[in-house]
Amino acid sequence: MGHSWRVMPTPVHTKVQTYNNFIDGEWIASRSGAVFENRNPADQNDLIGAFQQSSAADAQAAVDAAARAFERWRLVPAPKRAEILFHAAELIVQRKEQFARDMTREMGKVLEETRGDVQEAIDMTFFMAGEGRRQYGQTVPSELRDKFAMSVRQPLGVCSTITPWNFPMAIPSWKIMPALVCGNTVVFKPATLTPLSALNFVKVLEDAGIPEGVVNFVTGGPDVGTLLSTHDAVRVVSFTGSTSVGRTVNENAAPGFKKVHLEMGGKNIIMIMDDAQLELAVEGCLWGGFGTTGQRCTAASRVVVHETVYDAFVEQFTRRAKALRVGNGLDEKNQVGPSVSESQLQTVMKYVDIGQKEGATLLAGGHRLEKGELAKGFFHEPTVFGDVHPQMRIAQEEIFGPVVSVMRCRSLAEAIEIGNGVQYGLSASIYTRDINKAFTAMRDTYTGLFYVNAPTIGAEVHLPFGGTKATGNGHREAGTAALDVFSEWKSIYVDFSGKLQRAQIDTQEL
Ligand code: UN1
Repeated sequence: MGHSWRVMPTPVHTKVQTYNNFIDGEWIASRSGAVFENRNPADQNDLIGAFQQSSAADAQAAVDAAARAFERWRLVPAPKRAEILFHAAELIVQRKEQFARDMTREMGKVLEETRGDVQEAIDMTFFMAGEGRRQYGQTVPSELRDKFAMSVRQPLGVCSTITPWNFPMAIPSWKIMPALVCGNTVVFKPATLTPLSALNFVKVLEDAGIPEGVVNFVTGGPDVGTLLSTHDAVRVVSFTGSTSVGRTVNENAAPGFKKVHLEMGGKNIIMIMDDAQLELAVEGCLWGGFGTTGQRCTAASRVVVHETVYDAFVEQFTRRAKALRVGNGLDEKNQVGPSVSESQLQTVMKYVDIGQKEGATLLAGGHRLEKGELAKGFFHEPTVFGDVHPQMRIAQEEIFGPVVSVMRCRSLAEAIEIGNGVQYGLSASIYTRDINKAFTAMRDTYTGLFYVNAPTIGAEVHLPFGGTKATGNGHREAGTAALDVFSEWKSIYVDFSGKLQRAQIDTQEL
């Protein structure tokens, strides 16, 4: 995902609103006073606001505040911590429509989808609030008499959360809510393209009564990210974004033995078998491929179709892709919004060019849209390539835009092989009416998510979310799996025998 921002001289002499960082319970400017602009990707003339271009020193102040706050927050009973989360969830419900509009304006996806993004944050916040009364550990029998054994979850300390622009409220909620309910404190650096949605989210936590220093918010670029993944006091780094930045985060965090949770790229596949309900599969490919303008890590950027239904599928899919209405996401008639930035759009155009040079057939789209109002933003036609070979770059590399590569297969086994034949392993799906095929594909596809007769997108908050291979590093967020990222186990033995009992050595009489 591209990071681009403009550094502007300060002070700002226009009427544009300037937004601050939130450190130790106060909204404050960065030390340098430098800010960057946040503009609408559907209309570059629409300046949303100026946000702090923070430096490592600002991030350091945030980590220090979080480290201090941890000593009190960790001792607040988890059900009490959760009360703040319940309240926060209610506030997001009240503000949902405004948050969705702000989000569409700053990152482009259509209103229906930004409402879904905010809803996902609501769902996650309620779910994690419930965990305040669970966070179950184990009690087990000891091998010794008059001895008690149990395991409990412990918070780790300061958690850095570094989040992307494509789910600007949902993904922060996936990280921050479990971190908080487990008793950690947080420093939050959102993508530079979506600081307003992030700020809206932090404001909710402030209004819900989160104590000072427990959640800190610092906007800015890689300097902030580097500090957040290297500072000694940081114990967990949770990152969602590109695989290349994720690798850097991992390397930065390794010398300090931090727990690193990474959620990165995807090249997800929909497999369409000869017995599939074709119209349903077409609907799934449209939503999976072009929803969020293809800018989901779960996007269905690859489709493999059994040769006997390939032509029929391609005819329907291409026709429907061409009919999608592209435009400003604030207009509810539109179905596909812009790419998030000029650089993201350039990536899309680069891959359209690569696909043609590789010999794939351009079946739909392929051009930037620049007529009338569309000239103000980063719009591109929904694009379909056919006759794609699995080894082509358009079938291997994450594009993160409205481009779908369609391939042929002769069997389920070949479809699965193509599905697994990429560096990523986030999501996969199969359309079939044969339960044997569905279960075989479910077992043999090496991904963290799998769907039957549904597209590759649309994970729900109460199940683990994440992927294999270059998509992740073995952790999962969402569901109770997220608690494993944001807590660690302590095993506790209580000997009430009044004498020394040596495990593995003292034998117990019956
Ligand atoms: C992402 O694309 O980074 O399953 C997250 C889905 C959404 C989340 C996507 N609930 O597509």
